[in-house]
Amino acid sequence: MTKPDCGDLSADAWDEMNDPRPAESDFDRVVDAALSRRGFLSGLVAFGSGASVMGGLPGRGRAQGSSRFAFTPIASATDHTVQVPQGYTWDILVRWGDPLFPDAPALDQATGGDAGSALRVFGEATDGMESFVVDGRQLIAVNHEFANRRVNLPDASGGIPRDAADVRKLQKLQGVTVMEIAADSGRWQVVQGSPFTRRITHLTPVAFSGPAAGHDLLMTRADQTGRAGWGTFNNCGAGKTPWGTYLTCEENFNGYFGATGPNADVPAIVREGYKRYGIGATGWGYDYHKWDARFDISTSPNEPHRCGWVVEVDPSDPGSTPVKHTGLGRFKHENAEVVLASDGRVVVYMGDDERGEFLYRFVSDRIYMPGQPTEGLLDEGTLFVATFSEDGTGHWLPLTPESTGMANLAEVLMFARMAGSAVGATTMDRPEWVAVNPHKPEAYCCLTNNKHRGRKANAGGDDMTVNGPNPRETNKYGQIVRWRPEGGDHAADGFEWDLYVMAGNPEVYDNNYGGSDNITSGNMFHSPDGMAFDSTGLVWIQTDGDDSNTGEFAGMGNNQMLVGDPDTGEIARFLTGPKGCEVTGLCWSADRRSMFVGIQHPDAPFPDGEGLLPRSSIIVVRRLDGDTIG
Ligand code: FEO
Ligand code: CA
Ligand code: CA
Repeated sequence: MTKPDCGDLSADAWDEMNDPRPAESDFDRVVDAALSRRGFLSGLVAFGSGASVMGGLPGRGRAQGSSRFAFTPIASATDHTVQVPQGYTWDILVRWGDPLFPDAPALDQATGGDAGSALRVFGEATDGMESFVVDGRQLIAVNHEFANRRVNLPDASGGIPRDAADVRKLQKLQGVTVMEIAADSGRWQVVQGSPFTRRITHLTPVAFSGPAAGHDLLMTRADQTGRAGWGTFNNCGAGKTPWGTYLTCEENFNGYFGATGPNADVPAIVREGYKRYGIGATGWGYDYHKWDARFDISTSPNEPHRCGWVVEVDPSDPGSTPVKHTGLGRFKHENAEVVLASDGRVVVYMGDDERGEFLYRFVSDRIYMPGQPTEGLLDEGTLFVATFSEDGTGHWLPLTPESTGMANLAEVLMFARMAGSAVGATTMDRPEWVAVNPHKPEAYCCLTNNKHRGRKANAGGDDMTVNGPNPRETNKYGQIVRWRPEGGDHAADGFEWDLYVMAGNPEVYDNNYGGSDNITSGNMFHSPDGMAFDSTGLVWIQTDGDDSNTGEFAGMGNNQMLVGDPDTGEIARFLTGPKGCEVTGLCWSADRRSMFVGIQHPDAPFPDGEGLLPRSSIIVVRRLDGDTIG
């Protein structure tokens, strides 16, 4: 996400202001490393012979072969609507505030609805989503990442909650929606009151499973077992298991906590954890702690430990309890990309989206067998963290009490960031979504940007000098790293890596900041974030960055969605979002003729017109000839 309504500040800037990071690292080392990286990158172009950027660096105009793309790429845009290529069309499926049940009211533009209606409507800030077919019905499970307070509380000054009812409303507008959709005369609509319709919010009962469940640091006054909690928070990216469940990933959970009194007397690891995860007295303006004691760390110091997990939801059973899988580690989760290892073990790739945090992988102990019980598959296993070497190889390092020196596995998982630091994981430029190519054993991760690369340490004091997959100091544009596991097995401990693309602005820069060779003035973008492969093996890339269209971002326009060919490196712009929005979340109808795309936090007048509230929306993109689209 870019803006959870922290005034004019981005989420990052807000987090940093409230939780300043350690000072600069040694500048000489930065320059030496940057120079060696440039030589290293430009000297190698073939994957497998060492690290490389696809197509080499720098220089433009690489000849491109015949394209696999079934459209003519579009120009960047700065308008307040969605643009798609000729031969394609889009319309709105659902907006924040749209009824999910027949008895829900239409959105009240003056108030944004109340705490009662919030539970009956489509939530705010649509993000990661997945589609499912259950009993022949088309379902979508989708995240509602944050509250856009000034929009959701339009009658509250500055969007600041005035009372417990305002807080309750915000709590209910976030979380997850499971909904059924159906095509009526070719146009998809929400099936109001479907037996599968469900809202999961910051208040919904959840269960903890895995090695940290029941640990002292998960216990609160309201839950003495450490196994039962309430709510899922800041649901960002998503994932889907082979057994048909939805994974919703908790990202900037720290923003919901604050303190009304002096710090509670807590163990040293908790104090260190607060610092590493950015938990402090102020919060991000949600002000939950002033109206709901659960979010007041001065009286409920363990509640933050109950957030930052990957949560499994069964979309086929609206009565089921969401499960927080502690085996997958606690950090600011982006998405959870699930793939099976060669022997059937379950592998989950996960990014931790903060400057200089890490890339993770979970490997289950047992194998997945279709039709057999899946309980424990996401709990019993090993969490690994990635190290990338300059020679184009990398390794997954297990996070265990032995490898980290931490007291027990529960604390390793609960404070995964500290565990990653203990084993020397590679600091990354904000790992966002991971996507696995369905046609070959390779995985991609968006590294969205990192303006402190080469200038500061991360929150744990780890070196953030430029390194292999993060080769640019003051990285404003981002890159996509990919890796191929040894032997083609995602459970292998070694891999080879390269950069699929370094985003950049070739109109402004004639060096590495102009991007890799597969970036031109015709397809330039920055801040790659959402990402998913389609069934044909093309990779769709969504962006979340500065859309000022000026200075270093001149000509790059609004946030957008592009599609890339993994084999040729070709990248083409397919869609531009309305001004102010982040394009995030992507899934397809079962027949692949409709693509669902999330438009998060647009500026007015999108989607309803001048003078009306802007509304995060899911749109449907189709081909006019009705053919498949990915
Ligand atoms: Fe919710 Fe890192 O994006
Ligand atoms: Ca994101
Ligand atoms: Ca982002």
